[in-house]
Amino acid sequence: MISMIWAEDLRHGIGKQQSIPWHIPGDMAFFKKTTSGNTVVMGRKTFDSIGKALPNRKNIVLSHHPTSLPDSVVGVGSLSELQAIFETHPNEKFYIIGGSHLYNALLSQADELLITRIQKDYQCEVLAPDITQNEFKLASSVEHESTERNPAYTFETWIRI
Ligand SMILES: NC(=O)c1ccc[n+]([C@@H]2O[C@H](COP(=O)([O-])OP(=O)(O)OC[C@H]3O[C@@H](n4cnc5c(N)ncnc54)[C@H](OP(=O)(O)O)[C@@H]3O)[C@@H](O)[C@H]2O)c1
Repeated sequence: MISMIWAEDLRHGIGKQQSIPWHIPGDMAFFKKTTSGNTVVMGRKTFDSIGKALPNRKNIVLSHHPTSLPDSVVGVGSLSELQAIFETHPNEKFYIIGGSHLYNALLSQADELLITRIQKDYQCEVLAPDITQNEFKLASSVEHESTERNPAYTFETWIRI
């Protein structure tokens, strides 16, 4: 099963200056709880922005220079190599955790999208992929109100039709 997980702002922004321009503990906790014990797949730029392998998860990083990645991750040099890993591990749950290169390249294979919609504009330069209502349907939506520290946000689950 291939699941994509991301958080986007009011203008579909997901990243700014090689980072994520918000810190929402409730969203981070959701990400950690959801992905722990599974495999996370990310692009090299997202890996660099995190700075280390995520604990309690198998980390796969896509790069044209996979041998330069640390031993703590599985470096993969092409989409076809990644595809072979998906096919040889049919019972594994893969979470595509970004960034936009990976979401766009793998959207057509995703079974499920876990999207956190944040009710604020952070002037991002990196955007979420376009999803169409003919490919995915909204299965659940859970709202979280704004607080003094955080804007309101909604957890959405989209399932492939
Ligand atoms: N809001 C969120 O939920 C969220 C989640 C994740 C990331 N982000 C943000 O997204 C931004 C990064 O996204 P991005 O799209 O710029 O970068 P990215 O997708 O994280 O990484 C791109 C890199 O992946 C490698 N790659 C991509 N396609 C490949 C292919 N077919 N074969 C081999 N390697 C390939 C290349 O690495 P090499 O250059 O090493 O060859 C490429 O430079 C950051 O701002 C990050 O903070 C946001």
